[in-house]
Amino acid sequence: MASVTPAAIAAYLDGLSPAPHPVLARIRAEGREHGVPIVDPLTGALLHGLTRAIGATRILEIGTAIGYSAVWMATALPPTGLLVTLDRDPARATTARAYFAEAGLDDRVNVVIGEADRYLHKLAGPFDLVFQDGDKQQYGPMLDKLAALLRPGGLLVTDNVLWDGEVVPGFVDPPQRTPEDTAAIAAYNERLAGDPRFSTSWLPVGDGVAIAVKSS
Ligand SMILES: C[S@@+](CC[C@H](N)C(=O)[O-])C[C@H]1O[C@@H](n2cnc3c(N)ncnc32)[C@H](O)[C@@H]1O
Repeated sequence: MASVTPAAIAAYLDGLSPAPHPVLARIRAEGREHGVPIVDPLTGALLHGLTRAIGATRILEIGTAIGYSAVWMATALPPTGLLVTLDRDPARATTARAYFAEAGLDDRVNVVIGEADRYLHKLAGPFDLVFQDGDKQQYGPMLDKLAALLRPGGLLVTDNVLWDGEVVPGFVDPPQRTPEDTAAIAAYNERLAGDPRFSTSWLPVGDGVAIAVKSS
């Protein structure tokens, strides 16, 4: 995924934040080699820091891919913590599981293979942090369910809210992204901005990250 941060700035910031586990470099390399979209390392570092800052012990992730963002979060969990991560792609989920085992994190990461919208109603909350990084057109439809799964004061963190800047009309001309995805993200941002259940900040980190704090 492209970063909206200039490359030199991103590289400088990257160099300042040591990765919490060496396996992250290998997952990132595999993601690049096989074209698997994963979060920017600065977004990973942000997720790690947020997990620590709120003392999260239960995290839900929509969109495991090959486990990159999950490792950033799981390495910030206490040994008794739990990260439930969902992906509909069995091959990616299998790869992610292998990385979690290699990193010694398989005791606190539960990978679920399947469609998130079908599985979510089976989950018991509350979660301290939910990371939404799945199908962009599902961001809006999943919002109420994810809000219900969060504890008061918990965080809903959403990736790709800038979509390479394409949510800003005319910023990328001609647009490169699927118009339906761009429209879905723009509508999600508007909805989150007006949602009284959350207090939301949008950060130009990686591909844009929204941090929504659920009201107490
Ligand atoms: C952007 S990738 C996730 C990247 C990952 N969070 C990371 O940064 O390492 C999105 C993933 O979400 C999965 N996905 C998309 N929509 C989904 C859905 N409705 N249910 C389950 N998985 C979904 C895709 O298969 C894909 O692997």
